[in-house]
This record gives sequence, structure tokens and C-alpha cells, in this order.
Amino acid sequence: MTVHFIGAGPGAADLLTLRGRDLIAASPVCLYAGSLVPEGVLAHCSPGARIVNTAPLSLDEIMAEIVAAHRDGKDVARLHSGDLSVWSAMGEQLRRLRALDIPYTVTPGVPSFAAAAAALGTELTLPGLVQSVVLTRTSGRASAMPEGERLAAFAATGAVLAIHLSVHQLDKVISELTPHYGADCPIAIVWRASWPDQRIIRATLGTLDSSLGAELERTALILVGRTLAAEDFAESRLYAADYDRRYRPVGAVPRFPEAS
Ligand SMILES: C[S@@+](CC[C@H](N)C(=O)[O-])C[C@H]1O[C@@H](n2cnc3c(N)ncnc32)[C@H](O)[C@@H]1O
Repeated sequence: MTVHFIGAGPGAADLLTLRGRDLIAASPVCLYAGSLVPEGVLAHCSPGARIVNTAPLSLDEIMAEIVAAHRDGKDVARLHSGDLSVWSAMGEQLRRLRALDIPYTVTPGVPSFAAAAAALGTELTLPGLVQSVVLTRTSGRASAMPEGERLAAFAATGAVLAIHLSVHQLDKVISELTPHYGADCPIAIVWRASWPDQRIIRATLGTLDSSLGAELERTALILVGRTLAAEDFAESRLYAADYDRRYRPVGAVPRFPEAS
């Protein structure tokens, strides 16, 4: 018996890895975080699977489901939205599984920041402009931010910020970021990226109507940075005609000569 933690992706049922889909189909028990994992993803469960929405359950109650499946020798597909490496609450479950000696696997998923960037049709890192993306959030009721991880500290680097769990705090986001990025810096809000009712709002830090935060439900990502609306950037050296690389050696004495 194994507990398979599976990144269920940002929402669209087909934005799931093939491995994730197959593990869901093969597991007789499916535990899913119902607040963000859409019903469409559950369509991959086998008929007759025990499907439990863990949104209203405590960690102890979730563990009780897993322990019962372990006792019955039934694999569990444990679904969390997006990818499991950020804000999934997987860490505390894995720690309990290790203590109980229950085996597990981890299958990554499409993170919401990637789905949001895809919805915008944007490469977040562009040559000469921005080469880093910070996945972050503002502090919430359940999680205070560590002192060094203030938005302003990240903003001082000029990186693109992908701000999760914070659309209800748009005022704070705008006021903390504007001194660093400038009022003309592009900002985008992608609400329910990849869902059928996906919504995109583009503006600048100076023009965004911060009251939108109250109107939108929380499944929204805020992206801020110069690359969001950039046209004036250098082309990548990787594809430059004179750039010598292993798969395309060039010049009289290539650094990477073709194998003879
Ligand atoms: C608990 S976190 C989960 C993050 C997830 N593990 C990931 O990889 O993106 C929930 C936050 O992720 C963002 N999010 C998740 N799915 C989203 C989507 N489809 N569209 C926009 N934002 C999303 C929102 O900021 C939301 O408040």
C-alpha cells in the first residue's frame, strides 16, 4: 500500500501529468483538497473509488482515512492543487507518514504561477530584463511571513513576483511594491487560471483598481514585473547564429566540435 501525493494542477482536468492521471485511476481511495481541486480532475478516479473531500477535515481526520486505507491494503491518491512543492500542506502529512512507516510517492503538478503565465502568453524571464521569479505570498491568518521575506525585500531585487494567496490584500501589495517597481510597472491578476471561467486583469501598479480584490474570490494569482508587458528586450544568445554550442558548433575552431 502506498500514498501517492499528486499535484492536481491549476484546475483544467487535462493539465495533469500522465503519471498523476494513471495513479489516480489505479488508486481505490482518493483524498482531494476540495477547495481548489476541481471535480473534472476526479473524473480520472476509477468507478467505485472512495472519494473524500478533505477540505472540511482536520489533519487527524485525514490521517485516519490514510491509516484505514493502509490497514485495508488500498493505495491512496492524495490530490493537492497545482504543484506539491508550494503551499500544499504536504510536508506535515509526509512527516506523519514517515513516523507511521507508511510508504508514499510524490508526483509533481503544473503550478498555478505557470498556468497564469501561460494564460498571459508571457515568458516571465527575458534576457537583460529579469532573470528571477519569486513565488511568494503576504501573511495570512494561518501563516505569518518570516521577517526577512517581506514583499519589499523581494521587490528590491527587481525580480518578477508571483504573489499567491493575497488578492484580498491588493492595497497592501500595491503600496509596498510601487516604491520599488514604479507606478508604470505592469501587474496582472489571473483569476482561476485554466478554469473555464478564467479571468485576466492587466494594469500597472498605478492604474490597478485595488477594490477588485474584494470582488474576486481567492483563487487568483498576482504577477508583477517588467517582463509582463515588455517588447524591448534582447534576443536570447542561445539561438544566435554565431553562438557556439554542443548541438550547433560554429566557427573555425568550435568550442564544441562535432563528434567524428
Ligand atoms: C494553497 S495555494 C496552492 C498553490 C499550489 N500548490 C500551486 O502550485 O500553485 C492557493 C493559491 O494558489 C493560487 N492558485 C491556485 N490555483 C490557481 C489558479 N487556477 N489560478 C490562479 N491562482 C491559483 C492562488 O493564489 C491561491 O490563493
